[in-house]
Amino acid sequence: MNLKRIYVSVLMFGVAGLIVFTYLQTWIEDQHTGFEEKIQQQTINQDFRSYSTEESEKPTKKWIVGRYFHKDSKALIESEDSQESNLFLGTEDSLTTDFSEDPQKILKQLKEVKLSSTMRPLNKFFVRDNHWKTTGEIQERRRIFLHDFCKKLVNVNRTHTPLVRMVSRIYVEDKYKLLYCEVPKAGCSNWKRTLMVLGGLAKSATNISHDTVHYGDHLKKLDSYDLKDIRRRLRTYTKIIFVRDPMERLVSAFRDKFEHPNSYYHPVFGKAIIKKYRLNADREALTTGSGVKFKEFIQYLLDPHRPVGMDTHWEQINKLCYPCNINYNFIGKFETLEQDANYFLRLIDAPDELIFPHFKDRHSTDRRTNSEVVRQYLAEIPATERQQVYDFYDLDYLMFNYTVP
Ligand SMILES: *[C@@H]1O[C@H](CO)[C@@H](O)[C@H](O)[C@H]1NC(C)=O
Ligand SMILES: *[C@@H]1O[C@H](CO)[C@@H](O)[C@H](O)[C@H]1NC(C)=O
Ligand SMILES: *[C@@H]1O[C@H](CO)[C@@H](O)[C@H](O)[C@H]1NC(C)=O
Repeated sequence: MNLKRIYVSVLMFGVAGLIVFTYLQTWIEDQHTGFEEKIQQQTINQDFRSYSTEESEKPTKKWIVGRYFHKDSKALIESEDSQESNLFLGTEDSLTTDFSEDPQKILKQLKEVKLSSTMRPLNKFFVRDNHWKTTGEIQERRRIFLHDFCKKLVNVNRTHTPLVRMVSRIYVEDKYKLLYCEVPKAGCSNWKRTLMVLGGLAKSATNISHDTVHYGDHLKKLDSYDLKDIRRRLRTYTKIIFVRDPMERLVSAFRDKFEHPNSYYHPVFGKAIIKKYRLNADREALTTGSGVKFKEFIQYLLDPHRPVGMDTHWEQINKLCYPCNINYNFIGKFETLEQDANYFLRLIDAPDELIFPHFKDRHSTDRRTNSEVVRQYLAEIPATERQQVYDFYDLDYLMFNYTVP
């Protein structure tokens, strides 16, 4: 009897202990997860904060966070070889709304970012010269800046862009293993000349005419290869892009295409623009499409129902070159074009005599589009529209650290 009672007591204690233990374990786990969750949240908030302060001079930019951070986006192109992951930059979940609801996902997403952030700096072996040191450092900062920005950005539409489309503006130079993404109005003619010289297609860059460069069909586009070859080149080649201040690029495009006779832009774009946005347009303007005013051009640009499509000369850089999907190794700027370009040529060990050409091959007597010229053009349009134009190019401003005027 006594023995039986002891036995039962022990058994009950055991069961009770087990229950308490299980409960405690669950409780501890809960606490722990909660703690981790908090840390993750803080990390993200911090990221977010530093991002917001950086952009604090651009108050209108804050909405972008809400608009572009979306669910269901994944890194589009997964490189088969993780060591040479050429692209990445997508996070899995929203950072602004309900991110605290699924800490598991956030954790995963943060891990992914870390794993995929392989940034392969170019081989610096060739640059021993101190002269290039600053340019190299600026280069490094630009890449990190873009990388950090893209890490926080998920564009909903990115997942739906096929690889072939993403690389459709990229030119291939096989000898030096280069991929150059063409951004019109940011030194692209001279870059194409340079690529032709590098590839042995021309002796000197100065001798190649504008038409040969753009219509000569000498350089191959990356989208002309099959998927396997595209991926291989993306993985192993040096990828470069040259960008420019969005407003300077826009005004430069307008001046180039609409302020000079042009047998394509006037009949195709000019006509449609004048027809839709000019009241009482005269017959001549309607038939030639010449004389488009900057104000009209901006109306067209901002119109959700444009009478004619976009054009590469004023299309956003992020839609031409996908800088958050294609991990560019070198980001040059038009503002420092020759310095950046010549530094790059030395980096890849180009022939010493190859210097990046500095001539302006079209309308060479026109004043170059600089900030002063831009100011004059922008003064012609109302402040609200000006703001809409900045917003239109918001990603280009943000990705490449340009300041909204
Ligand atoms: C971004 O631009 C600001 C203002 O022009 C500059 O001070 C800063 O150094 C730039 N950051 C990077 C990473 O280039
Ligand atoms: C996504 O694509 C749709 C239609 O193609 C477009 O209307 C929308 O503005 C795009 N969104 C972003 C964030 O680019
Ligand atoms: C090519 O350049 C050289 C030297 O710059 C010049 O003498 C020659 O006339 C040029 N040839 C052509 C076809 O423009």
